[in-house]
Amino acid sequence: MKYVENKVVLIGSGAVGVAYAYAVVNQGSCDELVLIDLNVTKSRADVLDLNHCEAWAPEPVSVSFGDYDDCRDAAMVVICAGVAQRPGQTRLDMVGTNMKIFKDIVDQVMASGFDGIFLVATNPVDILSYATWRYSGLPSSQVIGSGTTLDTARLRFHLGQFFEVATTNVHATIIGEHGDSELPVWSAASVAGRSIAKRVAAHPELRQELDEIFRKTRDAAYEIIEAKGSTSYGIGMALARITRAVLSNQKVTLPVSALLEGQYGHEGLYIGVPTSIGRRGVRGIVELDLDEEEQAAFDRSVATLKEVQDPFWA
Ligand code: 2OP
Repeated sequence: MKYVENKVVLIGSGAVGVAYAYAVVNQGSCDELVLIDLNVTKSRADVLDLNHCEAWAPEPVSVSFGDYDDCRDAAMVVICAGVAQRPGQTRLDMVGTNMKIFKDIVDQVMASGFDGIFLVATNPVDILSYATWRYSGLPSSQVIGSGTTLDTARLRFHLGQFFEVATTNVHATIIGEHGDSELPVWSAASVAGRSIAKRVAAHPELRQELDEIFRKTRDAAYEIIEAKGSTSYGIGMALARITRAVLSNQKVTLPVSALLEGQYGHEGLYIGVPTSIGRRGVRGIVELDLDEEEQAAFDRSVATLKEVQDPFWA
């Protein structure tokens, strides 16, 4: 199936969807952006508002309101639809409702003849990415979840603040569930070219600071949701980053949610792992040399996801 150069369809234009749309328009990352949402009145108003960005945007992005037929020739379909996490809920709590919503959405997208890249943001994102892959029947390379890209951005921000270096000079990654069982890969982390593991070996007191940085990273969404009802800008930017990686065939490695087929000793689930991304989606999963503690934490994260996921497919 042919797709139109750089057309993106966004399904679900709530807080996360519009933050993503604004990031994409602001970065000029696609030629055409089509919004689909059940709340037609609000979504049409969002389109109008986004159209008013064009005069001052770096590149023109044509934004319109559409329907599932628009997916037919899209390069990407980005799904942000579903019920959102409320204060006191974990991401896994929304699984039942959002699995049903996803069956309906993915069926309608596939009925259009879509053959591009799915990018899933709705939580629990790892389980819904797996569901999108299963429901769509597409090769797993064409289904990506936002995974731990946002968590990785949060970790890099806090490390940059702590070490007083630019966030872009921080190389550190969160892997695992986008949720409570995720983990930082300290063994492969560096700040301005200096190994964090070596620093901890020389200054063991640093470990406590790093644990606190990780805690702030992992629990950031709870804090934001408690205060303002939802998170939006961080995930919007993470999704825009992945979109650029796909549409510009960047072959960049990002910690998205991808299907494991034996990597890291596991298979049969989507989970956040460093993944090379290009125009046709997943190019390959990068297997980091995890230390024993990290591998054990990753195994626990896999078990957490499988416990929730497996009953849906039994
Ligand atoms: C976040 O981490 C809630 O998953 C969303 O911001």
